[in-house]
Amino acid sequence: MADNWTPDSWRSKPILQVPNYPDHAKLEVVEKRLSSFPPLVFAGEARSLKSHLADVCEGNGFLLQGGDCAESFAEHEADNIRDFFRVFLQMAAVLTFGGSKPVVKIGRIAGQFAKPRSSDIEKKNDVELPSYRGDIINGIDFDEASRIPDPERQIMAYRQSAATLNLLRAFAQGGYANLENVHQWTMDFVAGSPQGARYSELADRISETMQFMSSIGITAENHSKLRETEFFTSHEALLLGYEQAMTRTDSTSGDFYTTSGHMIWIGDRTRQLDHAHVEFCRGVKNPIGLKCGPSLETDDLLNLIDRLNPENEAGRLTLIARFGHDKVEQHLPQLIRAVEKEGKKVVWSCDPMHGNTISAGGYKTRPFDRVLGEVQSFFDVHRAEGTYAGGMHVEMTGKNVTECMGGAKAITEADLQDRYHTHCDPRLNADQALELSFLVAELLKKDRDSGTSKVAVNG
Ligand code: PEP
Ligand code: CO
Repeated sequence: MADNWTPDSWRSKPILQVPNYPDHAKLEVVEKRLSSFPPLVFAGEARSLKSHLADVCEGNGFLLQGGDCAESFAEHEADNIRDFFRVFLQMAAVLTFGGSKPVVKIGRIAGQFAKPRSSDIEKKNDVELPSYRGDIINGIDFDEASRIPDPERQIMAYRQSAATLNLLRAFAQGGYANLENVHQWTMDFVAGSPQGARYSELADRISETMQFMSSIGITAENHSKLRETEFFTSHEALLLGYEQAMTRTDSTSGDFYTTSGHMIWIGDRTRQLDHAHVEFCRGVKNPIGLKCGPSLETDDLLNLIDRLNPENEAGRLTLIARFGHDKVEQHLPQLIRAVEKEGKKVVWSCDPMHGNTISAGGYKTRPFDRVLGEVQSFFDVHRAEGTYAGGMHVEMTGKNVTECMGGAKAITEADLQDRYHTHCDPRLNADQALELSFLVAELLKKDRDSGTSKVAVNG
């Protein structure tokens, strides 16, 4: 167990991004109730994810992590979950085919409710209210009552996560993810687009391969890998009272795990070495992600790696680079070099979303060419450094939204207002998510064909 760590040791550390709950007694009651609720995920599942991420670390897999910026209570519908899952499966099929590597699938889902904010206050005209911090904390409506943090929301978030996870488990293991259905995952609105056509071609090739395998006796009926998929959940570990309440001791190992999701990550705004979020995360054994933005200095990164992964265990730590399309080359190489020099085992993943947010036509949006550009630079830098670009982390939805500009269907600034539904940051729609996946599949294929992607650390 981590030295001097307890599930509540974070409480004595400085902390940023905390909600101001007016009723502390109520908060305590809620946290106590949560701590008696059944776990959402099991320690054994988190360990299994860690071992898949260890494979990614060694260059033998690719991580796909994605989902909403923030889940919402209002949109908790089966269709939303199903449509997200369909597009996610399509992305994974594209990446598996292109990269010829297993894809480790992690949703930003079933727990992604708390949001860090750049300001504590939101101002509209002359009215100032506390910022919206995600449905697990307060309400999005711009009125005083909604913005008061309400502990009961944590119970709602727990129950929604349980229901979402239940459906996801059914989809992943109950036949929906069967590769024989590879054609049926396409959403109607994607079917007629260039990405739809491209995907259909790929699905034909997968189907042909399945027919060939079936003729030699390998079928979805007798091979569970063709019939089912492993799908994991993740969220930002921002609301630490909730995370602490969901922490359990694993009976087989005696280790602590947060059972709120398989993987948790530390956001770019809360990654201070001696602060509460790093303190909490160092003590639980789940796989941990760390967002790495432009303000991260090399020494800080090395200290964070030592703090979060003192045993240098492959699969424990995923570094999620989110610099912005024009800043990758300035920041990433020095971080990679330091990690390599110290022999640290990490998965490098690219979040091409959070460094590329702009404001246009009154909306927070992301130009799709910048998203593509950041991914491209991420792969270029890894190729130049001889290291492995191991994953991507995106905000996406299965819905036909108009939140990010550009893409093959060319969403313009004027189109943003049509279907701008996000509760927080703009997400890729299904077409854009597929287009990005095709690009990454090509980059993976290029690396594989040229053999440039060596794994420098013990690989
Ligand atoms: C996010 O992933 O939604 C987020 C807020 O990211 P970051 O911490 O990288 O800004
Ligand atoms: Co976001």
